[in-house]
Amino acid sequence: MPRVAINKEDLTALKEIARWLNSQTGIYYPDGKLETLKHKLFKVCLDNRMTLSQLYDQLQNGNGNKSAIALQIVAAASTNHTAFFREDIWEWVKEEILPDVLGRDRQVRIWSAAASSGEEAYTIAMVASEILGIFELKKRVAILGTDISFKILKQAEDAIYPRKRTRNIPNELIKKYFTDFKDKNFVKIHDTLRSICLFRRLNLKKRPYPFKRRFHITFCRNVLYYFTQDEREKIINAIYDVTEPGGWLIVSVTESLNGMNTRWKKVSRKIGFFRKE
Ligand SMILES: C[S@@+](CC[C@H](N)C(=O)[O-])C[C@H]1O[C@@H](n2cnc3c(N)ncnc32)[C@H](O)[C@@H]1O
Repeated sequence: MPRVAINKEDLTALKEIARWLNSQTGIYYPDGKLETLKHKLFKVCLDNRMTLSQLYDQLQNGNGNKSAIALQIVAAASTNHTAFFREDIWEWVKEEILPDVLGRDRQVRIWSAAASSGEEAYTIAMVASEILGIFELKKRVAILGTDISFKILKQAEDAIYPRKRTRNIPNELIKKYFTDFKDKNFVKIHDTLRSICLFRRLNLKKRPYPFKRRFHITFCRNVLYYFTQDEREKIINAIYDVTEPGGWLIVSVTESLNGMNTRWKKVSRKIGFFRKE
């Protein structure tokens, strides 16, 4: 990214927006990353024909974290990068985790807690369908994907992806779980698989989490690094509270719960897997 000079007025506005982002969403832009934040907010400024300080004024005058400006800022500031079959965990999910929970309960609830555009939730659905078959899957498994950004959740619900993003997916799964889209450069998730996954907005910073029924598995991957250590600890402990006994937490192989005060038990054989006893 080219270096850009930040004038005094922009710097003040960026610091305030960064402070607001951190308090409302946990997304953390330290002073050293304000230039990145400025790049990310460029389009929001352009779309609204505002300078950064006008953007901040509007944010303050708007109706809390749900105002139109607030939603645009959150969508721009968050990194939504994701992928189907992201990271080398899926063999283990298929061989150990899903059989374990499916063996213990008839109805299984799975949470993709920072779902972004839905690739993680649909990957879980494909893997579970490979075990159960699509019709049993529909009867026995519910997958909830949540994210802070409405905009990205709309993409998850639409379930239409550029064909090139399906590179990681084995061909036989593409044939089974995707259909062609009118634009040949895109493919769509099959309706039956889509109907297993529900997407809703949820801010991981707002606890306790509002679920009536507990989850058997939660995927909370590539999001913890947004938060301070203290906030991460609160998040994983709040997930613990909405997890069935014997249930699982899966974080990214690049994230760790080291040094956190938590009841999650590390599964020594595999990085990123934790269990509630
Ligand atoms: C890098 S993506 C991770 C997607 C997926 N879990 C994966 O590992 O591929 C991180 C997601 O976390 C979301 N996010 C950031 N802060 C959040 C918060 N406070 N509550 C819920 N989601 C948040 C972002 O909008 C983004 O879509």
